[in-house]
Amino acid sequence: CGDKIALTPPMGWNSWNCFAQEVSADKVKRAANAMVKSGLINHGWTYINIDDFWENNRDSKDQSIRGKFRDEAGNIVPNSRFVDMKGLADYVHGLGLKIGLYSSPGPWTCGGCAGSYGYEKLDAESYAKWGFDYLKYDWCSYGNVINGLPNNDPLKVSSLSYNGGSVLSTAMKPFQLMGDLLKQQPRDIVFSVCQYGMSDVWKWGGSVGGNLWRTTNDITDTWASVKSIILDQDKSAAYAKPGNWNDPDMLVVGHVGWGNPHPSKLRPDEQYLHISLWSLFAAPLLIGCDMEKLDDFTLNLLTNDEVIEINQDPLGKQATCIQTIGELRIYVKELEDGSRAVGFCNLGADIIDISYKDFDKIGLNGKFNVRDVWRQKNISTIETKTSQLALKVPVHGVLLYKFTATK
Ligand code: GLA
Repeated sequence: CGDKIALTPPMGWNSWNCFAQEVSADKVKRAANAMVKSGLINHGWTYINIDDFWENNRDSKDQSIRGKFRDEAGNIVPNSRFVDMKGLADYVHGLGLKIGLYSSPGPWTCGGCAGSYGYEKLDAESYAKWGFDYLKYDWCSYGNVINGLPNNDPLKVSSLSYNGGSVLSTAMKPFQLMGDLLKQQPRDIVFSVCQYGMSDVWKWGGSVGGNLWRTTNDITDTWASVKSIILDQDKSAAYAKPGNWNDPDMLVVGHVGWGNPHPSKLRPDEQYLHISLWSLFAAPLLIGCDMEKLDDFTLNLLTNDEVIEINQDPLGKQATCIQTIGELRIYVKELEDGSRAVGFCNLGADIIDISYKDFDKIGLNGKFNVRDVWRQKNISTIETKTSQLALKVPVHGVLLYKFTATK
């Protein structure tokens, strides 16, 4: 059954970008409640994912928990903010949602909590026994294992990059191990491979059981971060398909910021561009914000069904940049019904105001209905050989159009 999951990109919420080390079962429940109360649940948003810091931390100030990472049998012991993992999973399931969690193949997670190294089988069994539906498995200290450092060595995320030959198999090995173990569990568990795009992970992430894999370093709510991630996606695009997704990291809209949520520093047009491109990229959509502070603008961004449909299109193709005109980048995504979603994206510092007529360059030939997807409005009919389309694209903004053949 494991081969037939995540056939469209997973949609949900992740605790890291707002709560970081302060995540708790109570905050997770409140995020789940907000997913329902806000109505997001009715637009496909499903997973409530706990990121790092549900496990005990090596540097905890609370001396009583130091070293209590596992029980005598080796089972992982959650920290005092997560006393009842099964109860939490039942609660989230009771709301009609699914639940995820996080670990590392190394001895320590990126935040210095207990990782799964040496205990992979027991951990996979715990996740399944508790009723979890999703695991993000984050490389973090696995470099320690490769470098032969002892288990209890201080966290040292390896800066080596692993490319090619036998070294590539080193990068794949821990994910293969956990991927196989998850498949042996009596429930479907989506497997998120997280190693920041090292070793061309998009070429092998699916073969180790991954349903999604990170293609870049961590996102932040700055234009520079979002822009650099956008410019880095084309190389992996051809590898996206149902069940296997490139993950350019979480959505930085709403109130975000590790442990100190503030309104996203992205400007409104940058947020439209961010959501449009993550939809065109067929990216997993994981909201990173404090769900109890959703404002109307953010809710609008996240509940436009025509935008979400582009992301969730069953054909599972990822858009690539087909044409650039100065700072205008034109991304095209083929959709299952034969139409095309096109993002006219302005990455530059000036408004772009042009008459566009290169339809053959973006694969369109004939007569098409043009629909403005954000506004959910048909705006014109074009004949590709003769028509021109007036495009006015705001600074760091987007026009997201759908072209459907017509008679
Ligand atoms: C890494 C990951 C993040 C987050 C943190 C948790 O930085 O890339 O997404 O999971 O670890 O410590």
